[in-house]
Amino acid sequence: MITAIYPGSFDPITNGHLDVLERASKLFGKVIIAVLGNPNKKSSLPIETRVRLIKETISHLNNVEVGSFTGLTVDYAKAKGAQVLIRGLRAVSDFEYEMQMAQTNKHLYPQLDTIFLVPRMENNFISSSVIKEISLLGGDITQFVPEPVNKYFKTIDK
Ligand code: PNS
Repeated sequence: MITAIYPGSFDPITNGHLDVLERASKLFGKVIIAVLGNPNKKSSLPIETRVRLIKETISHLNNVEVGSFTGLTVDYAKAKGAQVLIRGLRAVSDFEYEMQMAQTNKHLYPQLDTIFLVPRMENNFISSSVIKEISLLGGDITQFVPEPVNKYFKTIDK
């Protein structure tokens, strides 16, 4: 059985992330969505909140579990026995950074292969930072995020 990890900030999880995760869950025996604990961004949601929103979002995916980590992604992958690292690729602008990360990770841990999945077109332009900005400025994010995230942003003080 192949275990895949899907690392990221998920600050917060969006429909684009969910799209990638649902595809990965069909392709691999087990998928661990791994939330980076210290993204060093001022506007960041607390790690506990990011993990909770993911848990509430993925209850329909039986072979997916949520974890969090600090430090190197490859160390987390090793500890979890993962052979595959999943990343979503939305646009050409993502490519250079993703390529650099995939190649660095391959050097650090040759047993781990990065696989890129492309979200559906309607989810392609969504990013967590744009979601936060729309919500902060009073816009409606319903169509861009899973319901638990939508609910959360309606309740917080902006
Ligand atoms: O959702 P993001 O912010 O694009 O995810 C980036 C992430 C968390 C996958 C990346 O920053 C990462 O792997 N960070 C952990 C530190 C690490 O392993 N760095 C070396 C990778 S080049």
